[in-house]
Amino acid sequence: MHTLDDISALFQDRFPQQPLLVQACGRINIIGEHTDYNNGFVLPASIDKYLFFALAENGTDECHFYAADVGQEHHFKLDAIRQSDRGWANYLMGILQQLQQEGVLLEGIDLVFGGNLPIGAGMSSSAALEAGFALGICSLFNLQKPRHELAKLAQRSSHEFVGIPCGIMDQFASLFGRAGQAIKLDCQSLGYEYISLNTGDYEWLLLDSKVEHELASSAYEDRVEECAQGVRAVQLSFPEVQSLRDVSLEQLEQSQKAMSGLVYQRCRYILEENERVHQAVACLSEGDMPALGQLLFRTHEGLSREYEVSCRETDFLVELAQEHPGVAGARMMGGGFGGCTLNLVRRADKDDFLKKAKREYYRAFGIRAEHYAVEVVDGTEVV
Ligand code: GLA
Repeated sequence: MHTLDDISALFQDRFPQQPLLVQACGRINIIGEHTDYNNGFVLPASIDKYLFFALAENGTDECHFYAADVGQEHHFKLDAIRQSDRGWANYLMGILQQLQQEGVLLEGIDLVFGGNLPIGAGMSSSAALEAGFALGICSLFNLQKPRHELAKLAQRSSHEFVGIPCGIMDQFASLFGRAGQAIKLDCQSLGYEYISLNTGDYEWLLLDSKVEHELASSAYEDRVEECAQGVRAVQLSFPEVQSLRDVSLEQLEQSQKAMSGLVYQRCRYILEENERVHQAVACLSEGDMPALGQLLFRTHEGLSREYEVSCRETDFLVELAQEHPGVAGARMMGGGFGGCTLNLVRRADKDDFLKKAKREYYRAFGIRAEHYAVEVVDGTEVV
């Protein structure tokens, strides 16, 4: 856990220059899960869990990185960027590699980073790492890149250097977040609209299952592939279709025989989840939290039974939310197989729910769940 001041001070202990400071945000996603890589809709918001960066050019061709939260260093030459077994370093080097591939002449960089954004809890610490670093580099080297280009660059870097076939939601949310608003993002056109998060008597609460199952990254790749199989099957009858975004329920039904039962089930979840994003926006504009909550529960059921990316621990946390009268809705959030559940809780009932949920969770799994009350804040910025 480090503050912006800590990171700035740690930088100045190690390096002689005055650093540029950047703060990058994590995100929650209200609804629209696993829809982004299917060119669908998502509804994320950037939150007050940060990674802070202090960075400067060092006039050489070498980079010196220090990850303060884990106390690790990584040094390399700009013309010899290679994958490392330090995951965090790959996210950063991938950004530099993308820029060099675009013909940007970089110089060596000294960097210290760290913050209060939990890692592996489903709040997108990796996208914050990419977004904050990319914005910092652009500012250092005076590169005039619009933010949506940075989001795309970070996504490409995840695909090509880190090796994760992610969608664009997390990078986009970190870079485009706005206080008090969610972003309704169309992942096909990258068109977006801000949606006021007036939750009335309710607030967003994250419950961290504190588990992160091994399966997460291979299952993510499997889901990407299963959806692609679904698209290929639909294309046999509807060749104009390019992604699940273009597929109607009727078309999916008509193509059902051309795909396996499992692939049909995955695709159906995606089509319905896109619909739920529009419905959730309507609930927010009407201030109807009970109805929004029901959508969250339904999404969880879909993620758990149809898309099969949940796990016993997050299922259990959502069941506890279902049993509590003060919780309008809850669901697992992010890629799945652990991490946090997102809960829409009546403010007056929050403490009671937390107490019961943590007690029952501990009884069932012997794990102390953690909670985070999150504020929706402006996205990643140079400070
Ligand atoms: C991860 C990915 C995102 C998105 C979510 C699931 O967070 O990085 O692109 O696919 O999972 O909605």
